[in-house]
Amino acid sequence: MAQFNDKVEPMDFTKMPKEYQDLLTRLLTIQADCEIGGPHIYVDHWTLRAPTVDDQWRVARIAAEEIDHCRKMLRLLGLLDIDRSDILTRPRSKREVDAFKEDMPTWADFAAFGMLIDKVGEYQLEEMNGSTYRPIEDYLGQILREEKGHISYGQQQLEKLVKSGDEGREQAQAAVDKWYTVGLDMFGQSQSARTERYIEWGLKRRTNEEARRQYIAEVDPLIEGVGLVVPDKLKGRKYL
Ligand SMILES: [Fe+2]
Ligand SMILES: [Fe+2]
Repeated sequence: MAQFNDKVEPMDFTKMPKEYQDLLTRLLTIQADCEIGGPHIYVDHWTLRAPTVDDQWRVARIAAEEIDHCRKMLRLLGLLDIDRSDILTRPRSKREVDAFKEDMPTWADFAAFGMLIDKVGEYQLEEMNGSTYRPIEDYLGQILREEKGHISYGQQQLEKLVKSGDEGREQAQAAVDKWYTVGLDMFGQSQSARTERYIEWGLKRRTNEEARRQYIAEVDPLIEGVGLVVPDKLKGRKYL
């Protein structure tokens, strides 16, 4: 079968094969779950504990943007008459992706999460560039711009910690060690039959392995750029 590359409007959804319907629903539901999963980890604890009033405002703003991304993913499902608002009250232990089950005890965790996990988020969203589900293009540009802002804020905060002295640098390194491994796992198994089907239906562009390889090539210099050491990749070998 040649790769599918028509544009599917919501009114055509039920005419599509069941596999397409299932994959698109799954993709949008997981993305919605990830978007709201971040705020569920940090809003309660960090919004009013971030180091300065500027940082508190930034945490609140990032959370508002993530909630908006979730809202947009739920709206894309709503256009298909699918209601997945149940994810809003899902316990953290039931999140689709392990990264969103973790704790964030230090400010360095918040920073490393921004630089490394929002970066995986950017990769997941970039998979939807040129998606065969047409309405995605109405939202994707803004979401991706905002993700880039979250990533660079995390990067700035890590750099600030590194420059603050030994204690800050150690916390930053420990956080990067933790979230780097979590981030590599988020790309999923290298041999994934489902990813091939996503690609076939024009719902994703890269295999898990390709995306992970590109991610590594992009984030390793970021980690070194803030003055930290790139963690051992073998620690993230859950995906192999
Ligand atoms: Fe987001
Ligand atoms: Fe984000």
